[in-house]
Amino acid sequence: MLKLVALKLVALKLLVGVLGMVFVIAPAAVAQQGIDPGLFEQGQQLYQQNCALCHQDSGVGNPPTFPALSGNDRLGDPVRIVRSIHQGGRRMPPFPALTAEEISSLANYVRNAWANDFSGVTTEEVAAVLEGLEGLEVTGPMASVWDGVFSEAQATRGEAVYEGACGLCHGRRLNGAPDDPDMRSTPPLARARFLRIWEGRSLATLFEYTRATMPENNPSSLTEQEYVDVIAYMLTVGGMPAGEEDLQPDPKSLASVVMRAQP
Ligand code: HEC
Ligand code: HEC
Repeated sequence: MLKLVALKLVALKLLVGVLGMVFVIAPAAVAQQGIDPGLFEQGQQLYQQNCALCHQDSGVGNPPTFPALSGNDRLGDPVRIVRSIHQGGRRMPPFPALTAEEISSLANYVRNAWANDFSGVTTEEVAAVLEGLEGLEVTGPMASVWDGVFSEAQATRGEAVYEGACGLCHGRRLNGAPDDPDMRSTPPLARARFLRIWEGRSLATLFEYTRATMPENNPSSLTEQEYVDVIAYMLTVGGMPAGEEDLQPDPKSLASVVMRAQP
């Protein structure tokens, strides 16, 4: 019986895959038996908010830049998942503000969505793993991009980086309209339309995503310093005030600053 259901699922996924070429649709995720449906649903929401940017709604990622989570045997180890989410990785942003419950919902989701079929993970198990990890705890509320998190000098340095490495595609005004009218448009990198998409994500996510994928024609070609400087410039153009200190190219401190559309 289970086999039959699995076969049907495969057939459904194939069908969805074929249809997906015509209409872009994400395969519906269904909770496996034995997994708390409430926790699974919460995990799905958190996943879409925090993770789908890189790993995709369908879990296929964008290898080799962003690994697939669907069909990934390494997800059999819950400790690895908790550590990846809480501390980040070499190229994955950390999410130190997520609670043990939120992490367990995410772990349940990624272990049982798509082609994955691992057992559930309880909040107690996650809490026990977190206790053994290096203190990355965010204490107090997260700072926002409106709190003066970069310096004016840094934004000026970032402007020069932007003009050399980004402006050609994203436009002099950062509005996604390239200066060359024959070039295709790109997403805006400042102001309301950009902030609506990025609302609630941390600067660590913006930093790691940009570093891994941009400039589109030569990803990872800038230094870490240049990537944070260009982010400072993007924030200035978006109207955020400068402060005294530079924004540091350090995932932990970047993870404590959240993007907000409004001050
Ligand atoms: C900015 C892109 C990005 C975002 C956002 C992101 N990840 Fe990742 N993730 C990566 C990269 C890159 C790796 C590969 C390891 C590394 O280089 O750090 C990874 C690795 C992982 C792994 C380990 C997989 C393996 O094969 O070992 C898990 C699990 C994971 N991510 C889950 C998540 C979850 C859950 C979220 C959301 C809370 C998330 N990721 C958000 C980029 C991202
Ligand atoms: C060769 C053209 C090109 C260059 C150069 C380039 N980008 Fe992009 N950028 C793109 C395209 C195309 C996308 C949309 C990619 C997608 O949706 O998959 C994009 C997307 C982005 C995004 C995601 C925006 C969003 O809301 O989805 C960011 C952030 C970004 N670029 C930053 C930069 C920065 C910073 C630089 C310079 C260091 C840069 N880009 C250089 C073409 C370019």
